[in-house]
This record gives sequence, structure tokens and C-alpha cells, in this order.
Amino acid sequence: MLKGNKTIIRAVEEDDIQDLYQWYNDQEVNLWSSGAWPLNTLHNKEQIAAKFLDGGPDIYRYSLLTENEQLIGSIGFKDINVPARSVSIYIVIGNKSYWGKGYGTDALITFSRFLFTQWNFHRISLDTWSENTRAIYAYQKVGFKIEGRQREARFVLGSYHDSILMGLLRNEFLELHGTKDYKVTGNL
Ligand SMILES: CC(C)(COP(=O)(O)OP(=O)(O)OC[C@H]1O[C@@H](n2cnc3c(N)ncnc32)[C@H](O)[C@@H]1OP(=O)(O)O)[C@@H](O)C(=O)NCCC(=O)NCCS
Repeated sequence: MLKGNKTIIRAVEEDDIQDLYQWYNDQEVNLWSSGAWPLNTLHNKEQIAAKFLDGGPDIYRYSLLTENEQLIGSIGFKDINVPARSVSIYIVIGNKSYWGKGYGTDALITFSRFLFTQWNFHRISLDTWSENTRAIYAYQKVGFKIEGRQREARFVLGSYHDSILMGLLRNEFLELHGTKDYKVTGNL
């Protein structure tokens, strides 16, 4: 279990599946997280359980909780490039009442520190779409820089939007947030 200042990141448990099922079929959550609604396929509970509890060797998913251990979303990494020591990350706060209150930024800082210091990654990448300014602000607070823009690469609710590519290097992160370690308790 990783502890940030206001978030906890831990392994996904079976009891989390009901909330994850609800959030992954929620139109508004889906719209912001993938910019693909209604192109995304709806998932039933069994598919969500398989996706989250046994997501495959290149996908590492974790549950995201408040400091009071309330489940609010998930965070993870994928697309590991071993020689380049790079990886991409994703985050979804499914409980909408927790949007815009600093939980995403805190979780991203905690998770990035884990990936840079524990997994020894050199670079973290991510992508979002141009209208998701809340996500872009949160990523920039963590230190991510916009590195590219794929014009009209996303089609959302009837119109095209740009895809925004962002990246963060280990030395940039440590310079911004220091080398102070996160707290780890039990297993992750
Ligand atoms: C993106 C996400 C992880 C960000 O986490 P968060 O806890 O909501 O974000 P934070 O509160 O840490 O930071 C958001 C920043 O954007 C600002 N913001 C909040 N709502 C906003 C909005 N509607 N438009 C623009 N900016 C907004 C906040 O004020 C904050 O900046 P500040 O600290 O300078 O005031 C979360 O909102 C989320 O999961 N959204 C739905 C799914 C999603 O978009 N996932 C990312 C896909 S790439």
C-alpha cells in the first residue's frame, strides 16, 4: 500500500468490483477518461472483474482511495519499454464528487514517485484529449509537459478533438518534488 498526503494506492480487491463496474459504465466518467463515449463497449461485472483482477502481464492496475480508505477510482501503468525504461500511466477517479479536490494530483505524485524510485523508470508518458483541461492541469502540476498534439485524433460526441501527448522525466520529477520517500505499508 502506497500512501500519499491525501490518497492511498493499493492492490485491487474483489470488494472493489461493484464500484468499478458502476464507474466504467458511467457516461460522464467514460467521456473524460477515454474521450470515446459512446464508442466504448459497456462492460458487465464479470468482464470488469477479469479486467481488473487479472489484467494481463503488461497492465498493472491499482485501486485509489482517500486517506479515510474510501475507494474513489483506479490508477495504473502499461506499455513498458524495458531498454528505454519508459512506461505510460492512466488514472480515473470514478467517484465524481472527488473531482477537482486535489486527489488526482496527490495520487499521480505518489504513483510517479513509486515508478521512478521503486521501478526505476526513466520516463512516464500519458495521453489525453484537448477538452480535458482538468486532467491537463493536474498532470502539469505533477510536472508533465505537453510534448505533442495529434490533430483531430479523437472523436467525441460528434466532433473531432486533438489528442494531447505528455511526458515526465525522472530528474524533472525529483527536482520538483524532492527525493523524500512515500510511506509503504504491507503489500502492494
Ligand atoms: C483527471 C483527474 C484524475 C484529475 O484529478 P482531480 O483530483 O480531479 O484533479 P486535481 O483537483 O488534483 O487538479 C485539477 C486542477 O484542474 C482544476 N480544475 C478542476 N475542475 C476543472 C475543470 N472543469 N476545468 C478546468 N480545470 C479544472 C482544479 O482547480 C485543479 O487545479 P488547481 O489545483 O490549480 O486549482 C480526475 O478529475 C478524473 O479522474 N476525471 C475523470 C477521468 C479522467 O479525466 N481521467 C484522465 C484521463 S486522461
